[in-house]
Amino acid sequence: MSPPPLAPYPALRLRRLRQADWIRRLVRETVLTPADLIWSMVVHEGEGEVPVASMPGVSRLSVKDCARAAVEARRLGIPAIAIFPHIDGARKDAEGSLAADPGGVIPRAVKAMKDAAPEVGIMCDVALDPFTTHGHDGLIRSGRIANDATIERLVAQGLMQAQAGADILAPSDMMDGRIGALRGALESAGHPDVMIMSYAAKYASAFYGPYRDAIGSGKLGSGPEDNPADKKTYQMDPANTEEALREVGLDIAEGADMVMVKPGLPYLDIVRRVVEAYRVPTFAFQVSGEYAMIKAAGANGWLDEDRAILESLSAFKRAGAAGVITYFAPQAARMLGA
Ligand code: PBG
Repeated sequence: MSPPPLAPYPALRLRRLRQADWIRRLVRETVLTPADLIWSMVVHEGEGEVPVASMPGVSRLSVKDCARAAVEARRLGIPAIAIFPHIDGARKDAEGSLAADPGGVIPRAVKAMKDAAPEVGIMCDVALDPFTTHGHDGLIRSGRIANDATIERLVAQGLMQAQAGADILAPSDMMDGRIGALRGALESAGHPDVMIMSYAAKYASAFYGPYRDAIGSGKLGSGPEDNPADKKTYQMDPANTEEALREVGLDIAEGADMVMVKPGLPYLDIVRRVVEAYRVPTFAFQVSGEYAMIKAAGANGWLDEDRAILESLSAFKRAGAAGVITYFAPQAARMLGA
């Protein structure tokens, strides 16, 4: 049904509904709450906190500190935490062998967080890049990313994470067919309740720069073989929209419970189209580069950091996102008065 025609000015003065805070609050169309946030967090193998230079306010946390942060998330009303590992470079290899290690820092952090705050959902990235010397999300065979060989490793990694108590598995690798393989494996291994949030439309973006610093990612284009210098053969071309809808459709068909668009703000049009096309819970990842930009401009006094954070997070809600994965989660939740 189309709305009735607008009355002409002066009968219609749109500013009437903006004249005071109470009426602005009353007619507000979308509301941001701590329940919209997934806290993006980095865990490392050592003790204490290690600040990430390119992400002021973000530190790599020890397993113990992750458990404390989970308690803090619960207090702040943040429903879930997405956990990413920093692995010592000397322990990586070309095959990402440690990715499925049940004694690794991710399963230890998951257990510690679930013990400390079982009410907080824990989401794990399924991808090999924190564990590979070359920094790619996939295995390399003859200088190319090998899709199907990678899937086998991802399934092993995902099952290990589920075993450790992860509530949501979030494959961020962009291999074809990994959602179906993972869903099937979870069902057969007795983990029917473990959820999958697929990084369905993940773009080959410049905005991941600080993250690769945060997790100490291997340098692309380096390593024992002739390794690709970028991720463009598996992550999407930033120019494409129709392809994003195909990616999302495929992942839903294969068993994804929720989907994600990544990066965030530069891709709000994709969020909107995915929500309209599929009506499944759709999340956006406000990535490390987006975080760094707001922090840098805020530190220089070029913009009001707190307002920019809340405005950017609200924009995701307005676009139709069910929630946002963000490094700002605790800061934003505090501002939202939790
Ligand atoms: C890789 C992965 C990346 C991020 C999450 N998982 C980086 C990449 O694809 O190179 C980026 C997160 C961020 O920038 O905050 N599996």
